[in-house]
Amino acid sequence: MDTDLTEPEHARAEPVDEGSPFGPVGVVGAGAMGAGIAQVAATAGHAVTLVDAAPGAAATAVERIGAALSRLVGKGRLSSDDAAAVLARITPAETLDELPNCGLVIEAVPEDLELKRRIFGELADRQPSTTVLATNTSSIDIDDISAEVADPERVLGLHFFNPPPVMELVEVVHGERTADAYVEHALALMKAWGKTPVRCSSTPGFIVNRVARPFYGEAQRIVEAGIADAATVDWVLREKGGFPMGPLELTDFIGQDVNLAVGTSVWEQTGRDERYAPTAFQQELVEAGRLGRKSGRGVYAYAADGSLDASAQDGGPDLELAGRLVGGPVATDPLARTVAMLVNEAVDLVARGEASADDVDTAMRLGTRYPRGPIEWGREVGFDVVARQLAELDEAYPGGRYRPSPALTDGSLT
Ligand SMILES: NC(=O)c1ccc[n+]([C@@H]2O[C@H](COP(=O)([O-])OP(=O)(O)OC[C@H]3O[C@@H](n4cnc5c(N)ncnc54)[C@H](O)[C@@H]3O)[C@@H](O)[C@H]2O)c1
Repeated sequence: MDTDLTEPEHARAEPVDEGSPFGPVGVVGAGAMGAGIAQVAATAGHAVTLVDAAPGAAATAVERIGAALSRLVGKGRLSSDDAAAVLARITPAETLDELPNCGLVIEAVPEDLELKRRIFGELADRQPSTTVLATNTSSIDIDDISAEVADPERVLGLHFFNPPPVMELVEVVHGERTADAYVEHALALMKAWGKTPVRCSSTPGFIVNRVARPFYGEAQRIVEAGIADAATVDWVLREKGGFPMGPLELTDFIGQDVNLAVGTSVWEQTGRDERYAPTAFQQELVEAGRLGRKSGRGVYAYAADGSLDASAQDGGPDLELAGRLVGGPVATDPLARTVAMLVNEAVDLVARGEASADDVDTAMRLGTRYPRGPIEWGREVGFDVVARQLAELDEAYPGGRYRPSPALTDGSLT
């Protein structure tokens, strides 16, 4: 993808009302996500304290933010005065004690439950009882993180996507114990920051990382079963499906290890639901160190500059094969099979009351750049058709992975 990863879409967002309950913002963890979130909050007008426990890390992150803002100035997207004002609003710090009383603190430390739980306990002790405590976790249950907070109703997830200044989507995640009023506040604040928030419950993978699972899994299974090679599957999803990248090239881009870890986490958290079971295909890639672009080889081979190494590929897509598969039986049609599973996953999420149909579609369009939201896609294909396709897949591959959601045929989503 050619996205310029440094350009905030709302660099000129108006400062948030000083009188709002969200005054100063604290960001804990100044890595890839924390630094980006700090930039977004400061651009929206908040005074931001950016804390990182590693000596000098927060100060270095502020320098990185300064460089990103300068690039925007260079492109005429931000005036140098505005860039200087944004940067001046961010203060680096090394301990939680240096945080002022904040309206909101967003935690973005590594994905480790014990670490996050401890930080939330400490934040709850140090910050006023009205401070909203948010986590940027991608996979941990919000209620697990708030376990040591005396008033867990103020703890919620603000799941930004990478890179935060560019990606418009934020999943606002509520735990069992999060109070609605705080969720409403968070939704309003994210809009004020120029983001498009969606609301979901603390279900494994939230919306995007849950609904997207079959996009990867079906492609891997199709290749594993010898139905088609990777280049042909990717070509079909890209050229016939309108997806910006094929699933196999996308997992190479993300990192096979990272993608496998997210999938495995959803699988574990759903009690090892067959739908999310990792494939031997991907496990073998990871075991062989074929992690994707970053290691020079994944599903495909890459040159030193990260571009596809054409001389090392087995050949391009087999267009004759693609022509035979697309529109044929669903079990061997990479596009129909993937779309049916995406629709099923989305419909199930909505039927369980974990997110609204509109929010699922918005999340998938903005978070993954799918050409259509899966619910909208299901309406187009026909939920009854999707149910029949899944029944066919279930017969071809029994075991529960392809069980159709009852909501496909109960009329609740038409
Ligand atoms: N990277 C992504 O694409 C992405 C996207 C969405 C969400 N997330 C989530 O965001 C969180 C952060 O991810 P990241 O990629 O920015 O990680 P990262 O490793 O780049 O940064 C984490 C930072 O936290 C600091 N840190 C560690 N312990 C700390 C402590 N006790 N107090 C303060 N700072 C501490 C580290 O020094 C490091 O700078 C994770 O929960 C991750 O799952 C990541």
